[in-house]
Amino acid sequence: MAIETIGVIGAGQMGNGIAHVMAAADYNVLMTDISQEALDKAMSTIQGNLSRQVARGKISEEAMQNALSRITTTLKLSDLGSADLVIEAATERESVKQAIFEDLQPHLKPETILTSNTSSISITRLASRTDRPEKFMGFHFMNPVPVMQLVELIRGIATDEATYKACHEVVARIGKTASSAEDFPAFIVNRILMPMINEAVYTLYEGVGNVKSIDEALKLGANHPMGPLELADFIGLDTCLAIMNVLHDGLADTKYRPCPLLTKYVEAGWLGRKTQRGFYDYRGETPVPTR
Ligand code: CAA
Repeated sequence: MAIETIGVIGAGQMGNGIAHVMAAADYNVLMTDISQEALDKAMSTIQGNLSRQVARGKISEEAMQNALSRITTTLKLSDLGSADLVIEAATERESVKQAIFEDLQPHLKPETILTSNTSSISITRLASRTDRPEKFMGFHFMNPVPVMQLVELIRGIATDEATYKACHEVVARIGKTASSAEDFPAFIVNRILMPMINEAVYTLYEGVGNVKSIDEALKLGANHPMGPLELADFIGLDTCLAIMNVLHDGLADTKYRPCPLLTKYVEAGWLGRKTQRGFYDYRGETPVPTR
């Protein structure tokens, strides 16, 4: 089946990035959210990111206008009925995702491929509650979506080969690289990245280093573009904690226990950049370490 129209559910950080890269690759995009404000904000983010690409000579003004004209926003999930592929990038809560799939299914064509951008929820379990487990898989982008080269493709136990191949072709058309992961907790990237971030928080908790020394150590000592605590703030501390809990519960190994200090930051509502406070305080001109 030729994929030309892509439905994107959720206009947040990940959803707007996905809409951006799909439209830039000449796919027609239907982006939906429950909030008009979120849709408007997403369109202005996409416009800002495309304008920056024009300013840096990466794409032409014409390509930017073409991409923008390919994105349609809607508050109605049922408007995604004409999509050939749907990528769900809503809140990272299983009950929310499940309810969305239930509402969406009756409007979809039988051949439409359904995917989730989940960073850690079981693809097999999500798939089993839909009417098309063989046409369901994980389509996991990294943040920031327009910049990061990788897409993790995760097959559930029932995912068929045609579905996997179709998704693989989409990844190639948007100029990114697909990495295949089996459906086990947190897949590949987060299985490795989150324990590293969690260990950085333990290093802080135990007083081995402070925020600045830990981040500098990994940036300069391991050539990471961001230190682990800066990266945790960028991802969102609530997301980091949720993924650690998925690893801890799903693999039942104490080596994945979330650091109590990470839990404390989340309980305080210090979730990182999105709340302007996490391991750094972003309310001033430059980020200030909180420890
Ligand atoms: N949206 C779109 N474009 C962005 C952007 C954003 N939020 N942030 C930066 N960019 C673009 C810039 O426009 C710039 O583009 P050009 O190359 O065309 O000039 C490019 O990215 C580099 O940006 P900067 O020079 O401003 O900044 P930088 O060199 O410090 O790079 C970064 C910024 C790319 C974010 C870099 O710090 C980095 O790679 N950080 C690590 C990010 C990472 O690890 N992401 C994965 C998180 S894990 C995940 O996403 C999985 C999950 O499920 C949790």
